[in-house]
Amino acid sequence: MSSGVDQQSQVPAKPTFGEVQASALVESVFGLKVSKIQPLPSYDDQNFHVYTSRTKDTTDGPTEYVLKISNTETSKNPDLIEVQSHIIMFLKAAGFPTASVCRTKGDNITSLVSVDSGSEVKSYLVRLLTYLPGRPVAEIPVSLQLLYDIGRLAAKLDKTLEKFHHPKLSSLQRKNFIWNLKNVPLLEEYLHALGQNQTREIVEQVIQLFKEEVMTKLSHFRECINHGDLNDHNILIESSKSACGDAEYRVSGILDFSDMSCGYYVFEVAITIMYMMIESKSPMQVGGHVLAGFESIIPLTAAERGALFLLVCSRFCQSLVIAAHSCQLYPENKDYLMITAKTGWKHLQQMFDMGQKAVEEIWFETAKSYESGISM
Ligand SMILES: Nc1ncnc2c1ncn2[C@@H]1O[C@H](COP(=O)(O)OP(=O)(O)OP(=O)(O)O)[C@@H](O)[C@H]1O
Ligand SMILES: [Mg+2]
Repeated sequence: MSSGVDQQSQVPAKPTFGEVQASALVESVFGLKVSKIQPLPSYDDQNFHVYTSRTKDTTDGPTEYVLKISNTETSKNPDLIEVQSHIIMFLKAAGFPTASVCRTKGDNITSLVSVDSGSEVKSYLVRLLTYLPGRPVAEIPVSLQLLYDIGRLAAKLDKTLEKFHHPKLSSLQRKNFIWNLKNVPLLEEYLHALGQNQTREIVEQVIQLFKEEVMTKLSHFRECINHGDLNDHNILIESSKSACGDAEYRVSGILDFSDMSCGYYVFEVAITIMYMMIESKSPMQVGGHVLAGFESIIPLTAAERGALFLLVCSRFCQSLVIAAHSCQLYPENKDYLMITAKTGWKHLQQMFDMGQKAVEEIWFETAKSYESGISM
């Protein structure tokens, strides 16, 4: 959801392009004629839904795009954006429903645009992606089958990325990247944004447990590249009728590769579980189905399974703390920033009240039932 807060001290300046300015950018950089442009929600970059008219040179191909304007901090790291763009293209070629990355008039996949505000010149990396069909998972009641499918997709994605090579791959190390689950202790810098209440106490406990029980075991986890943000707004689905007439959903889009970084298999599944819990009517049941799907491709080791509960709690904390911090910076964007935090807090509290053993029992029993063919 965020790519700008890579270092504790850095505060990303979200771009503030107007619609006319953004249209002009699409025309001058990508050579497309814009017929309509609408702002899309965004966390700390700026996104526009772009509609184009066909010209004699573009009689086929897409007409809808997403213009992504990276914030000033991310824009200083073109290698990272380049690797992300190549990953999107690599996954598409491997059959994943990711967007196509459009080329600029100069045949590049990004362009650095400078804006002179009078007092200073700011530079922004801009990219154009094709607009994918479907609607976000957040808008539908998610079936158990879809939870399983999303878990499986997360694992397939991590497995596929093992075959991805790029000379600038090391830019995904992102040492102090605040959204990498490895960096949960960095949240301490932002705790003040929560004020002094019960939320803060739980977050402090999770950070302490993370230091004692996860940090010490990181070397036992298997490494991989993580998408790192498979949330219910970054997965699009399309419906089709099943043989018995019920609506069936399939994933039609995987979005938002801005949080990719080097991590571990177990991070990906923990992050996916946490986001799939958000809108669920029975949040404690979610983990087992996502885990079963993930383990149908990548079975976790005992050490990885043992860390899952704390990792899910830790992701709730990351989301809560960083959203609270970002709200202080951008109060006008509060509704979007707090989407996850609102219900996330309730779920974290419930997980804590139930305790690790009880939650694990539900998750692992559910996952086991898939092995025996009777899913719960
Ligand atoms: N290629 C696309 N096809 C369809 N919809 C898209 C596409 N890209 C973005 N969107 C819409 O815009 C929303 C925000 O885009 P995205 O997830 O890429 O950015 P973000 O979460 O705001 O993060 P950031 O601000 O770091 O870019 C998505 O949740 C989705 O609704
Ligand atoms: Mg997103």
